[in-house]
Amino acid sequence: MSPKSKRSKDAPSLQVFFGDLRKMTSREIADGEVSLIVTSPPYYNAPFDYPDLFPTYDDYLDLIKSFASQSKRVLGKGRICAIVTDDMLVKEGDGSRGRKYPLVADTTRIFLDEGFLYRDKITWVKPVGYTRISRRSGVVLQHPYPMYFYPDNIQESILLFQNGEFDYAHLKDAPKKILESSKIDTTKLNKERWNLTVWNITNVLPMAGRVEEGIAAFPDEIPRRLIKLFTMIGETVFDPFAGSGTTLKVAKELGREGIGYEIDLELKRVIRKKLAGENFVTEDRAGARRLRKSLQTKIHQQRSVAKSPVPRLIL
Ligand SMILES: C[S@@+](CC[C@H](N)C(=O)[O-])C[C@H]1O[C@@H](n2cnc3c(N)ncnc32)[C@H](O)[C@@H]1O
Repeated sequence: MSPKSKRSKDAPSLQVFFGDLRKMTSREIADGEVSLIVTSPPYYNAPFDYPDLFPTYDDYLDLIKSFASQSKRVLGKGRICAIVTDDMLVKEGDGSRGRKYPLVADTTRIFLDEGFLYRDKITWVKPVGYTRISRRSGVVLQHPYPMYFYPDNIQESILLFQNGEFDYAHLKDAPKKILESSKIDTTKLNKERWNLTVWNITNVLPMAGRVEEGIAAFPDEIPRRLIKLFTMIGETVFDPFAGSGTTLKVAKELGREGIGYEIDLELKRVIRKKLAGENFVTEDRAGARRLRKSLQTKIHQQRSVAKSPVPRLIL
């Protein structure tokens, strides 16, 4: 078992580094120190969250490659990297057409090439009334003929990669008290259908003024299930794209340690708010930038264009 094996006894139970993940070194996180990664990388140039953040799709894939190699280094043997991601429809040219980018397939290929085992894929299904989608299915209603079909998307993928085989003897060696308090409630698991490859979970509602606005945060329930299913109490959970700090908040609630990496210095305030009352330490590292305000200005500009007299639907 690995809890605290590499962390100094004095390390705080929650730690957030503000910097570019690509520049992370073993000074921030030691090799094999982490028992689980739960994260959601930025969605490539997502119109509602990260418009034009990456100059090209290849730049985006370079970030995912670096994320894969950093994950391989910091994860303990046999441990899991859980990635919440989805293919992305991005506007092109004058904005009336969109191109769909295969983030799920490309991320999977990159993690396999890095040497991870492909353990599973869970489909996260949001409520049918999910309001943040582009209502592309309206096209076939206006033109009820072949070739006008574009579905509305209400799902994302939760990809589970494993860092080699896990040695289950580690669990047998764990102190009985820790093992028993980390036991999974199988009645709840069956009742709430965690046992399936489809998880129906309400998304974070996109209400104006909410602390997660413009961050593409996932709901607490996703890290809650993953942390319970893949870690013991006291082990360390890492979120390399911490955003508003959802994974860290839940890790702490479940008695795990949490480490986050986040490039955007403007999210310090957001994370502080989300972890209100929790003891945590932040440190600035290479590559930290200020992003949020400039991204939100761009999103508002694009929304006002979308509200112009000739409405545009991205296809
Ligand atoms: C989809 S959001 C994560 C949201 C998070 N799961 C939550 O619940 O709030 C992705 C985050 O990755 C951050 N990010 C983008 N590039 C990064 C990099 N190179 N290093 C570290 N963080 C980065 C973005 O600023 C953004 O906050």
